[in-house]
Amino acid sequence: MTDPDLDKAYALQTPDDNRKLYADWAASYDSGFAADMDYQLPRLVALVLAEIYQGAGPVLDLGAGTGLVADHMLMRGTFDIDALDISPQMLETAAAKGHYRQTIAADLTKPLDIADATYDAVVSAGTFTHGHVGPDALDEVIRIARPGALFVLTINAEHFEARGFAAKFRALAPMVAELEHREVNIYGSKAAAPHRDDRAQIAIFRKR
Ligand SMILES: C[S@@+](CC[C@H](N)C(=O)[O-])C[C@H]1O[C@@H](n2cnc3c(N)ncnc32)[C@H](O)[C@@H]1O
Repeated sequence: MTDPDLDKAYALQTPDDNRKLYADWAASYDSGFAADMDYQLPRLVALVLAEIYQGAGPVLDLGAGTGLVADHMLMRGTFDIDALDISPQMLETAAAKGHYRQTIAADLTKPLDIADATYDAVVSAGTFTHGHVGPDALDEVIRIARPGALFVLTINAEHFEARGFAAKFRALAPMVAELEHREVNIYGSKAAAPHRDDRAQIAIFRKR
């Protein structure tokens, strides 16, 4: 697939479709899509994390892509961050920035080869969205977090409704504490229609 764009990304069906699209998008993602759409989610995730997080342990960035969340986190503090993504090409771009402790090529829709209780915080921007990752991935990402770990995850607002994230969070209630949702704009004022006004929930919670 060539000339990736947001509509093609939202229309993806499978993890393999994601691998193919992001292989073509890695080189231009930051200077093209993120700049043109005035993409806000990585900055907003970093702001929330910096506001709340007081730990010193490792942080996992889910669907880290080219590393925009780490770019913004490291402007606000010192963190050991691991990048997890299905796309080796996106991870290569992220690794070249030198912001991650390690990169992990993995599919969030499958069991993860990561030990229980590994991370003190888990962040994610733009990955729980149309055509990408649904609510079932939350079981594994909660498993690999330590008790008390902080989660700051964006979920596209339409995807949240369509894929039943509210029901998933209700089912996860025994594992989740201090759950809060903040609704935000995904893109800034420079973004073009039709996605200019797209919204996301930022789900903020701790593992019990
Ligand atoms: C819109 S990008 C977001 C990247 C980065 N977090 C950001 O905000 O710029 C979505 C990312 O999710 C990754 N992704 C899609 N499906 C995935 C899956 N099943 N497992 C892991 N990563 C996935 C893609 O490769 C891509 O890097």
